Amino acid sequence: MQTVKKCFGILLVGAVLASVPTRAEVVLADVFARQVTSLNGKWRVIVDPYDTGYYDYRHQPYDASPYPGGGFFIDRHAKDKTDQVEYNFDTSPTLNVPGDWNSQDEKLFYYEGSVWYRTKFDVKKSAPDHRQFVYFGAANYEADVYLNGKKLGRHIGGFTAFAYEITALAKATNNSLVVRVNNNRHVDGVPTVNTDWWNYGGLTRDVLLVETPATFISNFRVRLKPGTTNTIEANAQLDGADKEKTVKISLPTLKLAAEMKADANGFAQFELSAPNLPLWSPESPSLNDVELSSGEDQLKDRIGFRTVAASGQNILLNGHKVFLRGIAIHEENPLRGGRAWSEADAQLLLGWAKELNCDFVRLAHYPHNEHMARLADEMGILVWEEIPVYWTIDWTNADTLANAQMQLSDLIARDQNRASVIVWSVANETPVGEARTKFLKSLVDEARTLDGTRLVSAAMEVRGDPNDANHKIVDDPFGEFTDLCSFNEYAGWYDGLPEKIDRLHWSIKYNKPVFISEFGAGARQGFHADALTRFSEEYQADVYRRTLPMLEKIPGFSGCTPWILCDFRSPKRPLPGIQDGWNVKGLIGHNGEKKLAFDVLKHFYDEQAKPAAAK
Ligand code: GCU
Repeated sequence: MQTVKKCFGILLVGAVLASVPTRAEVVLADVFARQVTSLNGKWRVIVDPYDTGYYDYRHQPYDASPYPGGGFFIDRHAKDKTDQVEYNFDTSPTLNVPGDWNSQDEKLFYYEGSVWYRTKFDVKKSAPDHRQFVYFGAANYEADVYLNGKKLGRHIGGFTAFAYEITALAKATNNSLVVRVNNNRHVDGVPTVNTDWWNYGGLTRDVLLVETPATFISNFRVRLKPGTTNTIEANAQLDGADKEKTVKISLPTLKLAAEMKADANGFAQFELSAPNLPLWSPESPSLNDVELSSGEDQLKDRIGFRTVAASGQNILLNGHKVFLRGIAIHEENPLRGGRAWSEADAQLLLGWAKELNCDFVRLAHYPHNEHMARLADEMGILVWEEIPVYWTIDWTNADTLANAQMQLSDLIARDQNRASVIVWSVANETPVGEARTKFLKSLVDEARTLDGTRLVSAAMEVRGDPNDANHKIVDDPFGEFTDLCSFNEYAGWYDGLPEKIDRLHWSIKYNKPVFISEFGAGARQGFHADALTRFSEEYQADVYRRTLPMLEKIPGFSGCTPWILCDFRSPKRPLPGIQDGWNVKGLIGHNGEKKLAFDVLKHFYDEQAKPAAAK
């Protein structure tokens, strides 16, 4: 496992690569607003279960060896009939990028290991001093990236973006970009070896060639100044030799503009007075055009302004108490049966959430693609985002902690300008224990340091009372550090039958908003029986019908994200004829058909959404 060091916007990977120096990862904010060339499409691939293209027969990595010849990243071709080369990307099969390999090729459905991807591209720079980067929206789980046979770096973590500068390495034509993607699971990984979701491997999100001026805006943040609703605070970070440049910001619809000379580190800060600023909310998702420029570099974005806070047992949005009408979502398009990555996939999933009359979604259990939060901004849906510290992580391993910290800060750097995002979640269903709580506390501290304007929480667990089976206790010591008292509860499914739900009583240690991050039951879409037959739609609907009124009795109950919007693939669900490799707790089947419980929840949310007077 590599050691990881991080400083603002730049990630250094210190692999044991003697001969080929690695390059720093760079943060490239807002790539969708930049001049980009898409490298999406059909890439040549080599499936390499024994990592033959990465290690020599002494299991030494070729890219650390003085004789890298055998490494597939060289993209060699036989010079003539005598030449001994035992791979050839040009005649190899292809896979679509973006896309996981599991749902594209039946032979790769269960595959865990390495797959080599190669694409070729030409470079047409619009000015000789401009810089070039390759940007990956995500690659699960580990990606070694090479250009023209040279190593750019290694990225760990399957759900966050990364980019490398290629200005010095790129040729005008026929550049060979090779990526070794490996989705093996690791005990010390994040996530670790055991997850109730499919371990989709591959280049799962957009791959882009990004061109920038010599000095460009690598990241920026625009938000309400904490504690105000009429002052906009913004900052921008320049990347380039000429750091002390003027940075301009303008919000044309608000008739606001300012300019500032960046400091010696290329950092510029702004404060703009904005009386009568329209605030963003689900009812009125008002977004404002924001333009940032420095020299010839220009970025545009659409940003909403809102405040969110926990006060006593209430969640306040723009100072008003809210109830979060939510649903949990995995990043999967059930109709295609593969990782979701596109705007259309986001439309499908958030469209279904809207049909449920939701105004909140929990994007479980890892950072989803950027389209989700951007579309949620537009559609007026609040968002809970999470990093995959899931179940039993290697709590005492410093590299595991650094990996989790990196994923959290990458997520925050990417989505800090999204008004829809109101919760950073640092974990799901982790076992109470000192090392674990210390691990999670450091993530909470990091989130608060990087962004003190959002709620920080995790999906915690409930414990039973050995003396009273109907007594549920929430007193996880980690709850002391979170803004929400959020937990998963599965009464009526993993704990007893649905009738038990009616008898439950609760002891909750914390005077905080109570949020139910999961509840639910399995049902095969189309399977109908009496309400005591597990996996029937009737059983699932009964669990919903009993759980919602039960939760309403809990003081401070401020919302929920039932598990889950639609069925999703899981290697832990083999039951033939019922699950067949799907977790069937969805309210929508993997055929896109709604189950009875869908309307139970929708009806509850329709009632919740009614103005107080009409209830
Ligand atoms: C857990 C877990 C989910 C899982 C769900 C289930 O609570 O957080 O990832 O899929 O329960 O068992 O269906």
